[in-house]
Amino acid sequence: MKTKKLQTNIQSLRGSIAIPGDKSISHRSIMFGALAEGETTVTNFLPGADCLSTISCFRQLGVHIEQEGHQVRIEGKGFHGLKEPEEVLDVGNSGTTIRLMMGILAGQDFSAVLEGDESIAKRPMSRVVNPLREMGAVIDGRKGAEYTPLFIRGGKLQGFRYELPVASAQVKSAIILAGLQAEGETIIVEPEETRDHTERMIQEFGGKIEKDGQTIKVSGNQVFKGTTIHVPGDISSAAFFMVAAAITENSEVVLKNVGLNSTRSGIIDVMKSMGADISIEMKASEGEPTGDITVRSSRLKGTTISGDLIPRLIDEIPVIALLASQAEGITTIKDAAELKVKETNRIDTVANELSILGADITPTADGLIINGRKALNGGMVTSHGDHRIGMMLAVAALIADGEVELGDPDAIDVSYPQFFEHLTHLIQ
Ligand code: S3P
Repeated sequence: MKTKKLQTNIQSLRGSIAIPGDKSISHRSIMFGALAEGETTVTNFLPGADCLSTISCFRQLGVHIEQEGHQVRIEGKGFHGLKEPEEVLDVGNSGTTIRLMMGILAGQDFSAVLEGDESIAKRPMSRVVNPLREMGAVIDGRKGAEYTPLFIRGGKLQGFRYELPVASAQVKSAIILAGLQAEGETIIVEPEETRDHTERMIQEFGGKIEKDGQTIKVSGNQVFKGTTIHVPGDISSAAFFMVAAAITENSEVVLKNVGLNSTRSGIIDVMKSMGADISIEMKASEGEPTGDITVRSSRLKGTTISGDLIPRLIDEIPVIALLASQAEGITTIKDAAELKVKETNRIDTVANELSILGADITPTADGLIINGRKALNGGMVTSHGDHRIGMMLAVAALIADGEVELGDPDAIDVSYPQFFEHLTHLIQ
């Protein structure tokens, strides 16, 4: 396994960085651009491995896409212009690609096979397969289509009412994408509000979707028009530097143009409640709200994170666990069993890897208990192929006394190819 020596025992972090484009929004910009009629231009696109998987799947479906760095041009085909792929569609490590693609493919008049890497092969798919089958989709796969590879025979779909058993934006979005191709109306009820980028993007492409509290309504037979999408910086990427600045002495870091959609900004609320020195300057913007975030080192105290806050910071929990390891007292994270079915079982990977570095952290059935303010030491750790575990460990290393070596550092390319470059830029 490839390993990387991480920078440790850092004096301070200072300076400013422009956070790369949001992963969730980048995926959706390609999908809706392909399903719209006419041309779509995307700026500040995230050229991470996950979003490149989405582009390659749509190319296989016959969509012409030009991508150069952070700029993308898509020649949309409309809902009825995609073609049957000749080969298996490879989603790589991307849960968002596979789950949202299922909703799109379910309504097409051809068949397709979806597959991904080892991590994707372990992630549950019936949460999407079951509702799509209720709409009339034909889907097969390992263990009754719980696992990849998945075979989808697209066809006519019927709108329906569905109460989501888990709070999941991927499941919600897959059903919305199927609903856009179904007869009649589809009504989706969320147990807790999750990220709403799909709903916002439908409106940006001239489509119609209604939202009333946690109930969403969408009708079939809509036509989307190509448009221009500017992707804001990813708060889930900014989170690593927010925590890094808070826990490293003498630090002040400015993170520019970060998406501040309230369905994603739970980490800001949590950091404030833990006593972090954090200020926000909102920028005028159309579509997704954005702003600059300034974080300075501070004394932190433990907190409890649970309930409807969880979907608003689900991807930030690994790095919040690190933050809590440097806060006075106990931090309890609960109602987060979904962490078990992310790129890795993040309850286990966070607890195991942070323990190696000297944190006092206990896994529970639905979260973590962290007994804070423990000095971190060196050690051999690994990302387990999970980008967010890799970045969290690189941030932990900044305050570790001793050598830290990270196994499988390349996993970070999934969402933040420039991560180490940006980190080095901030280290004084
Ligand atoms: C995502 C939704 C979340 C998140 C994932 C991206 C999305 O997953 O963890 O990184 O783009 O819709 P769930 O919706 O499964 O919770």
